[in-house]
Amino acid sequence: MAKLISGKEVSAKVRAQVREECEGLKAKGICPGLAVIIVGNDPASRVYVNNKKKACAEVGFVSEEYALPEETTQEELLELIRTLNNKPEINGILCQLPLPAHLDEKEVINAIDPIKDVDAFHPSNVGRIMIGDYHFLPCTPAGVMEMIHNENIDVSGKNCVVIGRSNIVGKPMAMLLLHENGTVTICHSRTKNLKEICACADILVAAVGRPKFVTADMVKPGAVVLDVGINRDENGKLCGDVDFENVEPKASYITPVPGGVGPMTIAMLMKNTLMAAKLQANA
Ligand code: GUN
Repeated sequence: MAKLISGKEVSAKVRAQVREECEGLKAKGICPGLAVIIVGNDPASRVYVNNKKKACAEVGFVSEEYALPEETTQEELLELIRTLNNKPEINGILCQLPLPAHLDEKEVINAIDPIKDVDAFHPSNVGRIMIGDYHFLPCTPAGVMEMIHNENIDVSGKNCVVIGRSNIVGKPMAMLLLHENGTVTICHSRTKNLKEICACADILVAAVGRPKFVTADMVKPGAVVLDVGINRDENGKLCGDVDFENVEPKASYITPVPGGVGPMTIAMLMKNTLMAAKLQANA
């Protein structure tokens, strides 16, 4: 039987810390502000953006939503970002991805002032993570690390396997585990012997985007299993990248879906926005 790491509980702790620090900043006349840009009508993005705004209100931040129509041009979007870069009340800028296909995501990310880049997607922030000299961590890997720390799980010397190599999750996740002296392997769609590699993992992070991809035979007894996936199973039910039912009895710790890594992501966004406000105020 594994211990369940509850993202609901750990994220509530993080949000409470942020709320407390926010009160302290407000007493000094600093009110953290986050601008959230959404382009088009993607229903999942709409839900995420609503949740981000709700979290801002809960911790005491100001949030501004910029909902732009599907047909917004690249120049219009870049112009909005330039305006927000120069707006002192806004400390963090987040442009919800994916963008409609006619827009250039890379150029949009590059346009955000790195000191307001609370997603940590800008190449300057990505580079900072690489050398371990960062202010912002991308929210999902940071949320996974927060869960690991909350359970006092020591990463040092452990075999860590990350399945998935995206810029947003897999690559920074591997780097954060490496910073804590894990021995890290990144697996992906071309990996040979995936099952054998995963079965050696003391800490296994699944960020594949495929329902129930990680089966019990891929998990070492006693492993810590962190599930970043949010998928629908064959019955349309929300599920992770891990076959929870069969993996849970083998693991020592496991994150559920829903209620695992998901809620952590927004809590870490709040933490980044607080950090952005402090950096910009030199507080
Ligand atoms: N779309 C899915 N996850 C994210 C995220 O963390 N940040 C942004 N900007 N867009 C996303």
